[in-house]
Amino acid sequence: MNDLIYLDYGATSFPKPEEVYRQMEGFYRSYGVNPGRSGYDMCMVAGGMIEDTRKLMTRFFNGTDYNRLIFSLNTTDALNLAIFGMLQSGDHAITTTLEHNSVLRPLYHLSTRNSVEVDHIPFDNKGFVHPEDFAKKMKNNTRLVVVNHGSNVIGTVQPIKEIGALCRERGIPFVIDSSQTAGKIPVDLQEQNIDVIAFTGHKSLMGPMGTGGLYVREGIEIRHTRAGGTGVRSAVREHLEEYPYRLEYGTGNLPGIAGLNAGIKWIQKKDMHAIHEHETKLLTLLRDGLRSIDGVILYCQDDLKDHIAVLAFNIDGLEALDTGTMLDVDYNIACRTGLHCAPLVHEQIGTDKIHGAVRFGIGPDNTEDQISTTIAAVREIAESAKKRAGSSARARG
Ligand SMILES: Cc1ncc(COP(=O)(O)O)c(C=O)c1O
Repeated sequence: MNDLIYLDYGATSFPKPEEVYRQMEGFYRSYGVNPGRSGYDMCMVAGGMIEDTRKLMTRFFNGTDYNRLIFSLNTTDALNLAIFGMLQSGDHAITTTLEHNSVLRPLYHLSTRNSVEVDHIPFDNKGFVHPEDFAKKMKNNTRLVVVNHGSNVIGTVQPIKEIGALCRERGIPFVIDSSQTAGKIPVDLQEQNIDVIAFTGHKSLMGPMGTGGLYVREGIEIRHTRAGGTGVRSAVREHLEEYPYRLEYGTGNLPGIAGLNAGIKWIQKKDMHAIHEHETKLLTLLRDGLRSIDGVILYCQDDLKDHIAVLAFNIDGLEALDTGTMLDVDYNIACRTGLHCAPLVHEQIGTDKIHGAVRFGIGPDNTEDQISTTIAAVREIAESAKKRAGSSARARG
């Protein structure tokens, strides 16, 4: 069996850079005490590392106040904090059909239980939403616009700067889900008119699972919907209002944040633009190779300019799951199949009826050879599917 070809970077980056594993183990062994709870030296070092990572990430997102960078479990957790903390009964929210369930489900929950009204802006046939469609839906009670920056199914990158500008003009808070983009392409709070960035650490930021959070711009109000220990001002009965405590609860993920710190430094050392260029080159090879195969259907891959290295496809006559299983079992290629937690994307591209699509997510460690092997594998699978379809038609006829 060939070595594993890992093309599931859309789900998580693997393996992590060596520095991430080393930092997680080394830091946790040496300083694995509860940060910010006491004043002894180890505790100060542990707290210092968290503060250093807040600063690093604040600079990474071009924020201005590192205390407004809060850590939570992942994007899902961070988006729950934001969405439940920003909307109330009677409010209106606008989002898109490109969203992951980490946005769709909190909004659905609020729409069914708290009479929050939600509009979903569809994407066009190339995979992009348009700012003017948001403008048409904005109302006096619109209190939130939330947009997935880069689609985890079709890879298209949305015009967040323009959508953000519209929101800014009307005083509507603008949240982006940067799960697929942070660490691949710039996510810039100031330049792109963003109010809240939700991020996850374990994808292109190269950190471990169980890390993520929010950056919240000054002047944006997120109520705390949880309460608990903060390690400071313990006599106060109410949960603290000030950041970062306002949105952080209990002991955080010290080894995870140490790993995230190393992951971001690794991206900076490698240069994010160079990584993106490498991935786009491989995506173009993959797209062109797959496009030349009879029976392969690609979704929204025509224009790769505003695109991250995520590609969805199907083989005519095969279920996505079957293609994925053959890629795994016969070729040792790891990918993701199904609906990718983004059911409305599949409804719109029509793949919901055939149980989704196959997704390849390309990362910094992938090579041209791996892409050629993958194209050859898909070609063989498509050819044998065609032969099977031909012989069963002959048998029937
Ligand atoms: C666009 C998008 N949003 C949110 C998420 C959820 O990320 P996590 O599982 O880290 O919370 C993902 C992960 O697949 C994603 O791709």
